[in-house]
Amino acid sequence: MKLIETASYEEMSQKAAGVIYEQVKSKPNTVLGLATGGTPLGTYRELIHLHLQKKESFQKFYTVNLDEYVGLADDHPQSYHTYMDEHLFQHLDIPASHTHLPRGLAEDLDGECKRYDQVIKQLGGIDLQLLGIGQNGHIGFNEPGTSFNSRTHVVELTESTRKANARYFSNKDDVPTHAITMGIQSIMESSEILLIASGKKKAEAILRLVEDEITEDFPASVLKRHPNLTLIADYEAMSLLK
Ligand code: PGA
Repeated sequence: MKLIETASYEEMSQKAAGVIYEQVKSKPNTVLGLATGGTPLGTYRELIHLHLQKKESFQKFYTVNLDEYVGLADDHPQSYHTYMDEHLFQHLDIPASHTHLPRGLAEDLDGECKRYDQVIKQLGGIDLQLLGIGQNGHIGFNEPGTSFNSRTHVVELTESTRKANARYFSNKDDVPTHAITMGIQSIMESSEILLIASGKKKAEAILRLVEDEITEDFPASVLKRHPNLTLIADYEAMSLLK
């Protein structure tokens, strides 16, 4: 694992965007795995900035997102489809047909999971996967206890995850109870993984990730088995490391 400590959230975001930008520059048809949540927002802002400043085209690249809430239409204000459009896609020149997320309103959810795995396969796998980390160690919506061999599947969200995400909804009860998430095995098959973390509330999770054993009780711990993992975190997130 390559560890990069930064002085601030902004610097973490700049460094992460730089890694993604270089990847797209060296391989224009890169397949990028993307994450949602609060942490990647700065990374996406910086990426848009780089795109506008350096005029590098994103027309040939492809994206696959980690997850989507079950029961939300693509255009629901809190769906991850909407998040990605607002915070990244509409600001780049990427064709809509190159961006992929699971469909939260699919009638046949198991079929949707299989379709999503097929999408990743047909794209030739993920070149670079961007990840955040949950306070309970979840990656994507792979909550503690998820098998390391999992492929795309439907999960019931834990109370702590629903509570953490309630800030985006007007009412905690509006937070969906289920989501479709890329599985841990699919994430681990990415050629490169870029994990970002910021703030004191992630310090405990980063400590467990770096120092504790690899266990399905703390899903992110599996990342230590990945040959090409970079963790970029600010000093607050790193503050409990010796
Ligand atoms: P956050 O979420 O970036 O909003 O902290 C990360 C995660 O839960 O994976």
